[in-house]
Amino acid sequence: MGGGGGTTEASGWPALTPALTPALSPRRGSPAVIRVLATIEREEGCPASILRGEAVMRPLAVWETPFRCLGPAPAATFPRMTLEDSLGDILRKARTSTHTTPEAAATEAGLTLAAYAAMEDSGQLAAHTQFSPLCRRLSLCDMKLERIAHGWLPADVGAGQWRELRTITTAGDGMTVNAFLVWDPATREAALFDTGFDAAPIFALIGEFGLQLRHLFITHSHGDHVAAIGPIRQRFPAVALHSGSAHAPAAQRLTPGATFAVGALQVAFRETPGHADDGITYVITGWPGGAPAVAVVGDAIFAGSMGGARDLLPLARGKVIEHILSLPGPTLICPGHGPLTTVAQEQANNPWFP
Ligand SMILES: [Fe+2]
Repeated sequence: MGGGGGTTEASGWPALTPALTPALSPRRGSPAVIRVLATIEREEGCPASILRGEAVMRPLAVWETPFRCLGPAPAATFPRMTLEDSLGDILRKARTSTHTTPEAAATEAGLTLAAYAAMEDSGQLAAHTQFSPLCRRLSLCDMKLERIAHGWLPADVGAGQWRELRTITTAGDGMTVNAFLVWDPATREAALFDTGFDAAPIFALIGEFGLQLRHLFITHSHGDHVAAIGPIRQRFPAVALHSGSAHAPAAQRLTPGATFAVGALQVAFRETPGHADDGITYVITGWPGGAPAVAVVGDAIFAGSMGGARDLLPLARGKVIEHILSLPGPTLICPGHGPLTTVAQEQANNPWFP
């Protein structure tokens, strides 16, 4: 009963999630007339006096708690993070994917084997590294890799454009992972993208903003991305699960062309395998104020790098080019690890994509 804002102990009432008149704040024991400004879905047990559209409702019981007017959410601030992959991580991934030995990479870079190995291990640029021959061998863009070597980070993405988007970064197994929560500000319907390691901060946000979690979209089934799925499904048993995994129950499997509504938001998906067989990128549009689309990409691409794909690198890279970097430049990219970025920034700076 109750869904955050407009919470009441009166029995038989639906979750009063639509915007309520701001002046309304009934005190304990006071009679109140509630003017509902948006549609309320009928729910089982809902009194007949609650109608679709603008309606006047007379409470049947004393309000136990004052209403909280659910205005627009405060602008999100996305945490500043270091890149998921250092220079050394990128070199090692590219070297193994191209079956290049450390000795051959060192020769191309004009370095001793010890100096090259230290650069891979530490991520610190070795003096006099010859980027052009090294990157030719490793199939990377030399100018973009050099920029990363000198400390490139994505510019501020302007988080305030998406008020109803939150990043939830949780830690486990010696790493951090990002999950994302989005919602419609009017209906308070919400969707979660991956779970991360810990459900507690997700539950806190759902409570804080009075949300009703309808969907859980999985970008891929690697353990760090779905670790908290148990407690989330336990708390919200009706949540609809969506996955690209061939091993998922049929009802949870994404079908070609399917789209999903989260209030006025629309969620479409694109298959981006390579890093994982079941890799999916979700594209969310319909944001209030015309904010750019948001792509939740899992580990298909990171700011300045991409998820490891080993022998499937050509497939992974091709899918990113086809399905992510083809999106409009201002599209926000929400990766499973590391900072948020945009399509335009990755086109200009990601060394895996010439
Ligand atoms: Fe992954």
